[in-house]
Amino acid sequence: MRHLPTGVVALTTRCQGRPHAMTMNAVLSVSTDPPTLLVSVGTRTRTHEILDRNGSYTVNVLARDQREQAERFAESAPMEADQFAGVRWRPTPATGNPLLLDSLVAIDCRVRRRIRLGDHTLFVGDVVDVVPGRVAEPPLIFTGGRYATAGR
Ligand SMILES: Cc1cc2nc3c(=O)[nH]c(=O)nc-3n(C[C@H](O)[C@H](O)[C@H](O)COP(=O)(O)O)c2cc1C
Repeated sequence: MRHLPTGVVALTTRCQGRPHAMTMNAVLSVSTDPPTLLVSVGTRTRTHEILDRNGSYTVNVLARDQREQAERFAESAPMEADQFAGVRWRPTPATGNPLLLDSLVAIDCRVRRRIRLGDHTLFVGDVVDVVPGRVAEPPLIFTGGRYATAGR
């Protein structure tokens, strides 16, 4: 799968009001009617524990110049760490999860179904809001275990 190029997103959620983010690329649009989106989250991540309780997540599609944020959110952050220091964000109107202001688009979802499979859980979410951001910017890409960029 490392040879299949993907986009990169920051999945954001909240724990007792505190924002949390994780870098991921296992994201799939499932159905358009109703709009649903699937994310595959490792059961050993902190995100899994938070998402299981919170019941909503936001998929922030990262732009080419957000590589530093992708690297930061790919490190498991202890509860007390401020992952968002220096990151421009605000709560989304629909779920209140962090919307990263520099991302291409933010897709807000409420969990409809959880499917446990091995060491991951597939969280299928209903899309409740889509907030366009810097849609004209080139996306961040991940391929061969490295970040890359694609022109537009
Ligand atoms: C490009 C990239 C894509 C990733 N995709 C996923 C993914 O789809 N699902 C997942 O569970 N972890 C994925 N990870 C790993 C998580 O970002 C990593 O385990 C993170 O430390 C989890 O943080 P947490 O424990 O604070 O939730 C990915 C990492 C990178 C760099």
